[in-house]
Amino acid sequence: MEYAELMGTDIRISRIGMGCWGIAGGRTWGERDDRRSIDTLRAAYDRGISFFDTAYSYGNGYSEELVGKALGSLGDRVVIATKVGTGLSSPSEVERHCEESLRRLRRDWIDLYQLHWLLPGMPPLPEIIEAMWRLVKSGKVRAIGVCNLGKGQLALLPPEIPVVTNQLPYSLLWRAIEYEVMPASLERGMGILAYSPLMQGLLTGKFSSPEEVPEGRARSRLFSSSRPQAIHGEEGAEDLTFETIHRLSALARDLDIPLAHLAIAWVLQREGVASVLVGARTPDQVDANVGALAVRLSEEVLAELDTITAPLKERLGPNPDMWQTSGRIW
Ligand SMILES: NC(=O)c1ccc[n+]([C@@H]2O[C@H](COP(=O)([O-])OP(=O)(O)OC[C@H]3O[C@@H](n4cnc5c(N)ncnc54)[C@H](OP(=O)(O)O)[C@@H]3O)[C@@H](O)[C@H]2O)c1
Repeated sequence: MEYAELMGTDIRISRIGMGCWGIAGGRTWGERDDRRSIDTLRAAYDRGISFFDTAYSYGNGYSEELVGKALGSLGDRVVIATKVGTGLSSPSEVERHCEESLRRLRRDWIDLYQLHWLLPGMPPLPEIIEAMWRLVKSGKVRAIGVCNLGKGQLALLPPEIPVVTNQLPYSLLWRAIEYEVMPASLERGMGILAYSPLMQGLLTGKFSSPEEVPEGRARSRLFSSSRPQAIHGEEGAEDLTFETIHRLSALARDLDIPLAHLAIAWVLQREGVASVLVGARTPDQVDANVGALAVRLSEEVLAELDTITAPLKERLGPNPDMWQTSGRIW
């Protein structure tokens, strides 16, 4: 495993982090199996993954509970990131949310506490961040991060409070952050935590056509708004997405590596990415994915990947939101 320090902190994270959304099951991921999920979390730890990303909204605390059961006794041998709920109506609720997460996580502190989304109806951003900062002062939280904040929202962060990360969607099929949000985050000295690097399984080669993709994952803006769970109202880019996947698979075959390794290695090599949060639902997937650390893509391959994925990047445009047309990340 490779490790990196989160900028401006003494927190050391693994460059492949474990994404803990999928283990909560639900509308996006379907059935769940607690025993298998706990084995998966332990397998990640055994393979050197020390950084785990969860959230209250992953199953209304369910994912946090699984993380607590599997890893709660490991103390400072693991770095746990979680997120403050999207249903926040007052900054005074932040402390209670934190206490509840700590109880589920079976820990006395949260290493990285992140704002999950800034949505209409929530308190002003500076007030939320100030409430989170009070938790740093009281020792319940070690560092603060945000997720899904665009350039305009980043400009509203209180300058005197260190906000060390912006967690954003980033993969070969989802490069929208390159237009604006990634440069703006790096300019502020924030590390990028890249989420959905496998585009929720599409970049493993497990689906060979758009029709095979389950409903919960076909709600992203890559897919047509006619998909049952879609809420974006766009036509999507299903054919172009699968043409891109087929070209990426052919390149992976030429390089003699699995498509998932190509996808993860590409994100790992992007400037400013502190850690790549890879979701896994079985120990075998963890095993398969950590193999990506052995891959070093040449400049020539990186240029080819840029060429293959540029048409999809252009078609989807600069909105980084994987699920909604506009308004949430600005
Ligand atoms: N801050 C945010 O708003 C936000 C949003 C999204 C995600 N995230 C974070 O980022 C993490 C990762 O993103 P993600 O879970 O959306 O997607 P992802 O990492 O792109 O894909 C993960 C899914 O792909 C499948 N998979 C993984 N490895 C595989 C392999 N080797 N072979 C075949 N299938 C494999 C698994 O699902 P199946 O086995 O079911 O196919 C797994 O759950 C999340 O868990 C969460 O921690 C954050």
